[in-house]
Amino acid sequence: MAQSTALAYQWHSEIFECQTNDIVRFYHLLEQQINRLSLSKSILGTSGEYPVCLLQSSQHITTNPNLMISAGFHGEEAAGPWGLLHFLSSLDPYLFAQVNLSLLPLVNPTGFAIGQRFNQLGENPNHGFYLEDGTPTSGKGTSIEAKILMDHTPTLLSASRDGILTCHEDVLLTDTYIYSFEPQQTPGSFSENLRDTLGQFLPVAVDGEIDDCPVQNGIIFNHFDTSFESFLVQQGSRFGCCSETPGQHNIDQRILANAAIMTEFVNIVKRD
Ligand code: NI
Repeated sequence: MAQSTALAYQWHSEIFECQTNDIVRFYHLLEQQINRLSLSKSILGTSGEYPVCLLQSSQHITTNPNLMISAGFHGEEAAGPWGLLHFLSSLDPYLFAQVNLSLLPLVNPTGFAIGQRFNQLGENPNHGFYLEDGTPTSGKGTSIEAKILMDHTPTLLSASRDGILTCHEDVLLTDTYIYSFEPQQTPGSFSENLRDTLGQFLPVAVDGEIDDCPVQNGIIFNHFDTSFESFLVQQGSRFGCCSETPGQHNIDQRILANAAIMTEFVNIVKRD
């Protein structure tokens, strides 16, 4: 959730053999995984010339946990969507016998295509998810992407009932950290396992403040604002995590860290 607005960022990924803002290649490789894993695709709306898509495991098993992973809210935070692609490419479809998985692979395509944080209208896609007396409401600074997602609140709430992981980056930082949400007073194994997973790839932030929030042991805990993840947790998603990988590190290392936290997120909730 870094600060810069007009600056554009792109990196060259050795893993994917392209620049990180190569949206044509991203969608091409994503389509291959959608086909391989037989994911269902719903177009929730459009942003500029691009669809905002929800992907879901095709068979919904009512006794399984419902988990959602989202990425690409901020266009310069490239390792989230590419990490999701890496996660999908190594996913065993047998997982879908145990988990109902939903994915928002690239929420802000117009920002991603130019490597800029905000969408092409200059709006922040992870801001302005207001709840007024419990009702999803647009307001000051609500982006077109947020409106699209809020229009599908019942679907997204059901899809994230047992957990939401949303993958961000902090392009100006050298250390990793997470925002996490658990239905208790202090961070538990959900938060600690996810932080430790990132810590296998990247240095964990020292205690202090990041964006005016207290970070302790790499975790900002139960911090509620008008973000998408906070919006879902306030309405009943049981566990939430917003991961932040540091843009000052190698892009492929960040992609691998994002893929690993997605794998761990699914495994933790599956184990519970
Ligand atoms: Ni962000």
